[in-house]
Amino acid sequence: MSAAAFIEKNKDRFLNELLDLLRIPSVSADPKFKNDVFAAAQFVKGSLEKAGADVAEICETPGYPIVYGEKIIDPSLPTVLIYGHYDVQPADPYELWDSPPFEPVIKNTAIHPEGAIFARGSADDKGQFYMHVKAFEAMMAAGELTCNVKFMIEGEEEVGSDNLEGFVLANKEKLKSDVILISDTHMISMKDPSITVGLRGLTYMEVEVTGANRDLHSGTYGGAVANPINVLCKMIASLKDENEHITIPGFYDKVQELSDAQRKRLNEAPFDLKEYQDKLEIEAVHGEKGYTTIERVGIRPTLDVNGIWGGYTGEGAKTVLPSKAYAKISMRLVPDQNWQEIAKLFEDHFKSIAPAGVKVKVKAHHGGAPAVVSDSSVGYQAAEAAMQETFGKRPIPTREGGSIPIVALFQKELGSDPILFGFGLDTDALHSPNEHYGVKNYFIGIETIAAFFRHFTALNQK
Ligand code: BES
Ligand code: ZN
Repeated sequence: MSAAAFIEKNKDRFLNELLDLLRIPSVSADPKFKNDVFAAAQFVKGSLEKAGADVAEICETPGYPIVYGEKIIDPSLPTVLIYGHYDVQPADPYELWDSPPFEPVIKNTAIHPEGAIFARGSADDKGQFYMHVKAFEAMMAAGELTCNVKFMIEGEEEVGSDNLEGFVLANKEKLKSDVILISDTHMISMKDPSITVGLRGLTYMEVEVTGANRDLHSGTYGGAVANPINVLCKMIASLKDENEHITIPGFYDKVQELSDAQRKRLNEAPFDLKEYQDKLEIEAVHGEKGYTTIERVGIRPTLDVNGIWGGYTGEGAKTVLPSKAYAKISMRLVPDQNWQEIAKLFEDHFKSIAPAGVKVKVKAHHGGAPAVVSDSSVGYQAAEAAMQETFGKRPIPTREGGSIPIVALFQKELGSDPILFGFGLDTDALHSPNEHYGVKNYFIGIETIAAFFRHFTALNQK
């Protein structure tokens, strides 16, 4: 039986196994789910074994384990390394989900008329990395595996991949490969397949502004003592000017400007501003002056408040001047910005703009480097040919705004080309309530991955 026939015959099982994986609430950010994160790692190990891996092991780290698997059919053949993550974002706020986040259900939507799987992690990234496990299983069953394959599936991507670098550095030989496949990104749409060739980096900060040593009566002290929330809002507002340009000195020093020709090419990708706005129910987009939406997301850095809190937020009214205010602020970065340098620039600047009467603390959470990958490598050509085959259309290279911090490390340390071979859509609600992944995307992804192996082997034989 061919791999394609095997996939067709086992569709229900392939889907049900993914649903089982989605039932494990492997939220890496919240220690409450610690046992579940470990359970997800075991699940992945078991799946690799069942699919036909010779090696499937749990590699302990100081945090959550990395699941490693391999099938070496002939050391002289090319090797494909697959990277993905079995951890997921927190599901909060739960009340905004139409169905419980860890009880997957399949529902039809306008964008996914053939059904979408609603669950946290369905698109990011369980549904996507699991396509590789299933494609591997199908190729093994059909005797169609044409090159060696290695899997590295981690459990800390959503919290900054802190332990992956150590693992990669300590296992360079084990991870040696000719290409790295990562399905953790989006395509433009089902009718406009695309391959991501750029990701932004990230610097994530937390700030604390303290006024008086205790909460104060807002009548007795209001107007005479700094209110840390008011101050924090003003400080944050000053971080961008009227053109949405970031005001932190030195912030843009290392930003690579694209040539007019490169910008023109980037903007040739299909993009309908009206449709974009309609889907988000907004009347206008908002961003840095002089750049299109595609550019604002793909090639420009930005700064956003992810959360802000302090003072009284309970029922009714309480008249109080809070003692403290907090915010979590992220900056998305582009080549050649360095996340640690940006963290330092932010800290120095933020402290410098604090008015007298408050104290400011600034701390850096995790971060990651931006990455640009080749759109002409053998791996890219194989991915292009595979998509051409399954979608009937040549994929477009795109640059996305999200971050996979480890991509730049792979380029530097493993030396093989990463291919950002994602099959999700930007409407899949990653990190939001009602995250979902198209059933059709899941199966076309499995087929396309199997096609990739064929094309990659053929191109390597040329
Ligand atoms: N799958 C995403 C990255 C992504 C999303 C790439 C959308 C392209 C388009 C990944 O799991 C993720 O969410 N990464 C985090 C970074 C991390 C350091 C927390 C992100 O981008 O916020
Ligand atoms: Zn992801």
